[in-house]
Amino acid sequence: SQLNNFSCSGSSENAPLKAKFHYREGSVDGVVYQLNDTAYVKAEDGKPDYIARIVEFFETSDNEPYFTAQWFYRAEDTVIKNHSGLVDNMRVFISDVKDDNPLDCILRKVNIAQVLPNVDLAEKRKEIPSCDLYYDMKYTVPYLTFSNIDNENVKIESENNAEKSDWSLLDLYSGCGAMSTGLCFGASISGIKLVTRWAVDMNKYACESLKLNHPETQVRNEAAEDFLNLLKEWEKLCNEFIFKPLESAASDEKADDEEPETQSDFEEFEVERFISVCYGDPNEQKKPGLYFKVQWKGYDSNYDTWEPIEGVSECKDAMRDFVTKGYKEKLLPLPGQADFICGGPPCQGVSGYNRFRNQKAPLEDVKNKQLIVYMDIIDFLKPKYVLMENVVDILKFAGGFLGRYAVGRLVSMNYQTRMGMMAAGSFGLPQFRMRVFLWGALPNQNLPAYPLPTHEVVSRAVIPTEFEEITVAYAANENCKLANAVYLKDAIKDLPAVNNDESQDERNYGTTPITDFQKYIRAPSGKLYDHLPYKLNKDDYERVCKIPKTKGANFRDLPGVIVKGRKVEWDPAVERVLLTSGKPLIPDYAMSFVRGTSTKPFGRLWWDEIVSTVVTRPEPHNQALLHPLQDRVLTIRENA
Ligand SMILES: C[S@@+](CC[C@H](N)C(=O)[O-])C[C@H]1O[C@@H](n2cnc3c(N)ncnc32)[C@H](O)[C@@H]1O
Repeated sequence: SQLNNFSCSGSSENAPLKAKFHYREGSVDGVVYQLNDTAYVKAEDGKPDYIARIVEFFETSDNEPYFTAQWFYRAEDTVIKNHSGLVDNMRVFISDVKDDNPLDCILRKVNIAQVLPNVDLAEKRKEIPSCDLYYDMKYTVPYLTFSNIDNENVKIESENNAEKSDWSLLDLYSGCGAMSTGLCFGASISGIKLVTRWAVDMNKYACESLKLNHPETQVRNEAAEDFLNLLKEWEKLCNEFIFKPLESAASDEKADDEEPETQSDFEEFEVERFISVCYGDPNEQKKPGLYFKVQWKGYDSNYDTWEPIEGVSECKDAMRDFVTKGYKEKLLPLPGQADFICGGPPCQGVSGYNRFRNQKAPLEDVKNKQLIVYMDIIDFLKPKYVLMENVVDILKFAGGFLGRYAVGRLVSMNYQTRMGMMAAGSFGLPQFRMRVFLWGALPNQNLPAYPLPTHEVVSRAVIPTEFEEITVAYAANENCKLANAVYLKDAIKDLPAVNNDESQDERNYGTTPITDFQKYIRAPSGKLYDHLPYKLNKDDYERVCKIPKTKGANFRDLPGVIVKGRKVEWDPAVERVLLTSGKPLIPDYAMSFVRGTSTKPFGRLWWDEIVSTVVTRPEPHNQALLHPLQDRVLTIRENA
């Protein structure tokens, strides 16, 4: 942190100062300061003045007058940095960082009020007294955490959380629901019954899969941006049909009664009932908007159609029935109804493989737009807790622009926030998978900690220094007992051999599971599913057959290349070997991948390894994912 290195006259980096006398007050340029006063403090040229609370006055053994500062942080001094515009510019954050500075660094007094954290931003604003600046949270520097200040006046609802019968969870970008399933398991360990009430994903198959496993969930197969628009429309509908004062509802009905005939003159079909609602373009006519799925009187469900709101808004009774039923069944969450939101907004614009990344304005890249949508959904629904997951690249790309934005948005909405970096491998998975997590908790809730690792795994990710401390780990001096890592053999060695062109989707195992992991992962039915590899084409298959079945084998073991240091080169003494098709055995892309330094192309995995992060497309051209002993990539089941 820049404040950490602060030194008005270079003293704070030196050995601790010896104090000769302590004082209750001090005078600078004729102005008297008391202990606990807050003041601006001289910064380096060109920088805004620092802000401190004076917690000690003393005279050094060299007779120099000094004070101890406890620093306040502006949003731009925190991890939020260049997104400080998101945060009210009167708002500062108290820290535990203290250091000693010459008394004459103090410039002038500043009136800083402490305000109780308030979930309701408008209410909070009303409570801010006349002051220059205010603070309602503390900032913990090494962990980049924003949290409540210990204060007995802050009421924490979550202390009674266990008594609440059911907590509802919205899983955004749910895929087939791994994250929410894990979160619900975790909550149940803490005695909280968390239920995934709603899930949103634009992938049809992911939605079908989630629905099969979670019949209790309202699964919405739509884009998150459409979901957000729908939430806003749904609130309007609920306001109109559920919350509207009876009087105005009655006068609406009168208006309905006045024109029944004209309506029926025009209508050939009569609405039986509405069965669904969405925001989008369900008829693919490039007319996005609010649509209702209509069941027509006298027609079966084959004739159901999506109708725009404008076409059916006169059908008030059917609409009231649909909204009332939907409201009762919590078809969609209204603000405050989702206790938790979890999900990882895809930020494909930061991926290291993407050459066209927008470094200057990452949020203008449509591939990163979902981070804004995700935060807008949180802003609208105001859940008690948020858990976001993302790739480590959001902290690396463009100086961590997107990670900082995410924290900035949550803090501006009055959430406490805590970042954490965890590798799935450290929690008993045979896959490394390092990810960044971000908790958000409203100020009337406890900000959760991250679980400590359970398994031994060597870190392989390069993490920017500023974010090093958010890696969830035991302190060096802590006595921890970690289990051995789960290796590839522990996870898949029990599975029967299959070929590159395997097509049988369901079969019996025909083998006995040995390890705990193998036993745990088998379906209760005892059947083996999805044990099919992504089929290699003829050329790749021929290449793979030639890769030795040994640890660390890859394309460099094929004839025609030599390795100098870390780099691979063509062997001038060997003529280029060709495949049956006439194509080269070793393709050019394998030689040039990461400027010839990579051993990943056509790499074999080995039994005693933790697999690198599994990605959607099992592509052997730039990833090591060949089975140790079989000529194929891992199957879907093995990857899972
Ligand atoms: C990495 S996966 C999520 C994995 C999931 N959290 C889990 O635990 O299994 C990202 C998901 O985002 C979905 N997705 C991408 N863009 C979306 C959008 N605009 N709206 C809704 N879903 C989207 C994809 O279909 C994909 O299933």
